[in-house]
Amino acid sequence: MLEAIKYSPDSGLHILDQLLLPKSSEYIKLCNIDDGFKAIKTMQVRGAPAIAIVGMLSLAEELKSLSFTCSDEMISRMSQRLSYLCTSRPTAVNLSNASQQVLTLARDNRDLPVSELRMKVVNFAIDMLKKDVDDNKAIGQFGAEAIAKICATKRVRILTHCNTGSLATAGYGTALGVIRSLHKKGSLEMAYCTETRPYNQGSRLTAYELVYDGIPSNLVCDSMVALLLQKKSISAIVVGADRVAANGDTANKIGTFQLAIMAQYFNVPFYVAAPLTSVDFKLNSGDGIVIEQRPEEELACIGGVRIAAEGISCWNPAFDVTPAALITAIITEKGAVAPGNLLTLKT
Ligand code: MRU
Repeated sequence: MLEAIKYSPDSGLHILDQLLLPKSSEYIKLCNIDDGFKAIKTMQVRGAPAIAIVGMLSLAEELKSLSFTCSDEMISRMSQRLSYLCTSRPTAVNLSNASQQVLTLARDNRDLPVSELRMKVVNFAIDMLKKDVDDNKAIGQFGAEAIAKICATKRVRILTHCNTGSLATAGYGTALGVIRSLHKKGSLEMAYCTETRPYNQGSRLTAYELVYDGIPSNLVCDSMVALLLQKKSISAIVVGADRVAANGDTANKIGTFQLAIMAQYFNVPFYVAAPLTSVDFKLNSGDGIVIEQRPEEELACIGGVRIAAEGISCWNPAFDVTPAALITAIITEKGAVAPGNLLTLKT
């Protein structure tokens, strides 16, 4: 399996530099929160779960390199550095959810000696790596079952958007995990992935993963989707999420909303596959989700070469919000539920 994130307490934290894929596969070492911030902001690592895991492992590496006179000093440093880290990319909720959890863990254990408290934080980050893979496999299983239930055909054709696979998570993936599960069961006829303009996570990363795993697949560009739905009997569209509000409204990669609108027009089921770490139960609806704006060059250039006319300004939002009404079900590690029933999964 492709590994976007490699961690061991001895050799430290290494990430696969996703800006270099698919041309070359190179790992870089991250030693502290400044390294983690830069890797997340520049998208050397991306995908909501992967961002959170790399953030927590960067914190663990930073704490290992520092000494503190008392636990309160360590907790105050954690709080300040995590606030900074969370400004790297604002839309995905996983990083701020994880930051809140690790701070609560540290505050609940403030009476421990510094060395033991530090180990608790390191273990929290290591556990996230493992839990994410387990959650993704469960999402894959629930997703494959949900699709089998509604599809008359034995072998299905699935369209996905952006990259939600091993590269966007600790491994296996969410929406791409559903595709992997269908393939493993022999129920996948074809996976279609969009190019995902402007930054091409589909053609650079998802296409790479699909080929790497030998999954039958076709790449389409984003403007081909209506024709694809009209001509190719697509069984379902499955996408990931960066932040799901309590009512099921879902922020995901720009272009997701228009896919959902097309799915409704063609009567194709539209699924969001996401772990509960991507759900923001504090937000009642998607109206409050902050949409990240990315640099103009990511739209105007491809591979560092300018393709847009000189002098034109660009509007480059990285995500959009799909209203819950367009979503058939949200597939989580606890099962697939209609968006309106998401609150039943809150722990
Ligand atoms: O800008 P990116 O590449 O981080 O956007 C990624 C997505 O939108 C994914 O669909 C989402 O993070 C889920 S990844 C399991």
